[in-house]
Amino acid sequence: MANVVVVGAQWGDEGKGKIVDWLSERADVIARFQGGHNAGHTLVIDGKVYKLSLLPSGIVRGGKLSVIGNGVVLDPWHLEKEIALLKSQGVEINADNLMIAENTPLILPVHGELDRAREEAANPGTKIGTTGRGIGPAYEDKVGRRAIRVADLADRETLETRVDRLLVHHDALRRGMGLEAVDREALLAQLEAIAPSVLQYAAPVWKVLAEKRKAGKRILFEGAQGALLDIDFGTYPFVTSSNVIAGQAATGSGMGPGAIDFVLGIVKAYTTRVGEGPFPCELDDADGQRLGERGHEFGTVTGRKRRCGWFDAVLVRQTCATSGVSGIAFTKLDVLDGFEELKICVGYELDGKRIDYLPTASSQQARCTPIYETMPGWSQSTEGARSWADLPAEAIKYVRRVEELIDCPVALLSTSPEREDTILVTDPFSD
Ligand code: IMP
Repeated sequence: MANVVVVGAQWGDEGKGKIVDWLSERADVIARFQGGHNAGHTLVIDGKVYKLSLLPSGIVRGGKLSVIGNGVVLDPWHLEKEIALLKSQGVEINADNLMIAENTPLILPVHGELDRAREEAANPGTKIGTTGRGIGPAYEDKVGRRAIRVADLADRETLETRVDRLLVHHDALRRGMGLEAVDREALLAQLEAIAPSVLQYAAPVWKVLAEKRKAGKRILFEGAQGALLDIDFGTYPFVTSSNVIAGQAATGSGMGPGAIDFVLGIVKAYTTRVGEGPFPCELDDADGQRLGERGHEFGTVTGRKRRCGWFDAVLVRQTCATSGVSGIAFTKLDVLDGFEELKICVGYELDGKRIDYLPTASSQQARCTPIYETMPGWSQSTEGARSWADLPAEAIKYVRRVEELIDCPVALLSTSPEREDTILVTDPFSD
């Protein structure tokens, strides 16, 4: 049986929600492996709207196991709220259909405070534009070996030792930033109060996944954000604090890389970015405005307006390589309907030379100017197309040219937010 990893191949917001939902219907297990509640998507199933940012998409479907892997950072208070909201909508959530890895680090109130305080104090040009949810500081504590993990909630003595170790670091930091010291007793009380809500789902996820794999179950690894926000391969430091690329599905869940059979990269027909950082193809003109309006480009978590630009084939070729993408799901083609001409970035000019990748050095990134290829647009609507025959010839040419430039085939073409409006070329789950 095939196991599939879904990753965003741009800066996030590629339309993963619909594709993940479409695939999760056919999977047995759906696992998150990185990020936290900085992600956000809306699922519409049988007319009901569900908002998810931490729980795997499979949770809204009966008969599936949803898993939060150790690569995630988990805010237990947010978890409680998200679960309560879904339950109020009639979704069943229990220890049989939701498991949280015992070695998952927690996001605490201090992390959110620190995240926001740093952003506020940042000098112009150094602000990251984070979601303010404490993601970065929580990952820092994980690698700093002072995180509180799910399993620690079960034992008061361990919890006290962990909190003390954590506060030595945080109180020093907070003093320097002019913030009050953390109230140790209050934090311990908060953690003790929330513990049962989390512990009821705690499980050795690596073991459960190994058993599921052995039993031939289909596992869907649900990535959040996008590969250009990856802590190593993204536009550092304007990135999120986790590995986003497909390899993280293995380390963030406890499965070996050999368990991954297909990597589906989600790619939008143009480019967007929310938050600060380099964006070579960004458009500040009427075309950018039009992409944003037609594509409803506003952040799901923060409501911020997304920056928009033409399709950047250089960046997507790069992320297809770093994630080992087997095939892409191409989304939001209909947003391009009605443009007389379309541009695709096919290379950059850097100091008079043409290059075919985004260099790592920030100063070089800033000097890269896009080299565009212009293609004719189409006037007909592609919205809701369900077969190639429903698409105008120019739209097919655009898709084919993208495949060529990114060196990766289209596995799925999504032509509207509706699940059925999808052209399937290769089924990621078929083996
Ligand atoms: P953080 O993940 O909150 O630390 O934010 C770091 C960067 O990642 C910021 O530019 C955010 O806007 C961006 N980011 C985080 N999560 C998402 C997402 O789900 N979609 C798009 N951008 C995101």
